[in-house]
Amino acid sequence: MTAPTIRSARADDYDAIVAVVDDWWGRPMTAALPRLFLDHFHTTSLLAEDVDGLGGFLIGLLSPARVDEAYIHFVGIRPDLRRSGLAAALYERFLALARAAGRVRVRAITGPGNTGSIRFHTAMGFTVHGPVTDLDGPGRDRMRFERSLDVGPGA
Ligand SMILES: CC(C)(COP(=O)(O)OP(=O)(O)OC[C@H]1O[C@@H](n2cnc3c(N)ncnc32)[C@H](O)[C@@H]1OP(=O)(O)O)[C@@H](O)C(=O)NCCC(=O)NCCS
Repeated sequence: MTAPTIRSARADDYDAIVAVVDDWWGRPMTAALPRLFLDHFHTTSLLAEDVDGLGGFLIGLLSPARVDEAYIHFVGIRPDLRRSGLAAALYERFLALARAAGRVRVRAITGPGNTGSIRFHTAMGFTVHGPVTDLDGPGRDRMRFERSLDVGPGA
């Protein structure tokens, strides 16, 4: 098996991504990924591809309001490629991009029931806070993840 290659996203990658999110998450997720994320943040987002097509993606941004922070909105890996280090590779590439842009911290969130995401972020060196009640509106509790970019992975 040839390892997936990682590249910067383009705005027109939106349709390929939105076509798989419900399947990859196992529940309806399209509403959480409107086209604006690719239109406006494709330069800081990443795609992984292999011979079977889209293998994974990361939607990330450099916060325009919090100028020392970066934010990861979504990461998804095709089910047959999970636990092969691909999400970690996408994260390391995004963290390097954020560090090079002068960002000192990266944040992300997930639902309290997403144990895979919580374990992945813990493994990636993020601190975990939560559940934070009503973070995304009434009844939408979330776990918060935060990691400093001052030090490298494993430090
Ligand atoms: C969460 C997700 C992105 C992880 O992707 P992945 O490519 O499988 O993760 P990696 O292989 O890079 O994992 C790195 C480490 O994170 C931890 N980890 C990742 N997924 C895990 C899981 N499901 N359970 C426990 N630990 C996990 C492990 O420590 C792993 O290292 P190891 O395999 O050597 O033990 C993937 O499961 C996914 O796409 N899930 C559905 C979408 C989703 O929930 N996205 C996150 C919220 S936006």
